[in-house]
Amino acid sequence: MLRTIKTERMEIQVASDLQQLSRAAAEHFAWLAFESAERDDNRLTVALAGGSTPKSLYRLLADENESFRRRIDWRKTDFFWGDERCVPPASDESNFRTASENLLRPLKISPLNVHRLKGELEPSVAAGEYERVLRSFFNLGQGELPRFDLILLGMGADGHTASLFPGTEVLSETERLVAATFVEKFGAHRLTITPRVINNAAHVIFLVTGADKAETLKAVLEGDFEPDKRPSQIVRPPNGNLTWLIDEAAARLLDLKKLK
Ligand code: 6PG
Repeated sequence: MLRTIKTERMEIQVASDLQQLSRAAAEHFAWLAFESAERDDNRLTVALAGGSTPKSLYRLLADENESFRRRIDWRKTDFFWGDERCVPPASDESNFRTASENLLRPLKISPLNVHRLKGELEPSVAAGEYERVLRSFFNLGQGELPRFDLILLGMGADGHTASLFPGTEVLSETERLVAATFVEKFGAHRLTITPRVINNAAHVIFLVTGADKAETLKAVLEGDFEPDKRPSQIVRPPNGNLTWLIDEAAARLLDLKKLK
């Protein structure tokens, strides 16, 4: 049974394990797809999360023995990424490859609906190219931001999300939609949508599991607002819904009554 806590700014759902968390995430996804179908523009724009946590959600959505596959009109879903490693799409490090293997290929998603960050390009070229993709797809005027229906995010044990890492300049980016950011600990660049884009989404859902994230999650949700140290705190969509889907292991240090 999911435990749900609603605060002024967010909803927190605590699942018993990854499987229950993934099912809850799939239900959110299906609901948002239904809602977008009800709207006149009836397309769902989703920015996928990287890392390993979302894999089981992706598999569940594509599973032929589950209802999600047929409840969602995949022809009207456009897939983007919140971030990408600077690697080729075939690399086992690639966030695109993870989604392609577990979701896009099994669902036979048309390449026309897949808008990937090109990690194989020189980082600043890839960021500029994706910025143009977003501006064109969302038909943005000068100074306008894309408004994703859904952005899925993970959280690292250091408090990063997407590829917004502690102490990096991209945290205070006010112009660009997409940035190439050098991450010291990897000695490599990453590609990421910027905080303004994330905070302009209609729905943002974090997927966080594991005891190794419990301490950081407590600091992010209950601690002082210090986004430079804990970039996940930067995610506060003023005109959108923020949902944290976490498992019991990641929630074990939370004082859910204290959440504001
Ligand atoms: C990435 C992700 C990153 C990820 C977190 C959590 O490219 O790695 O976008 O932000 O979501 O690091 O990763 P796990 O789900 O593997 O713990």
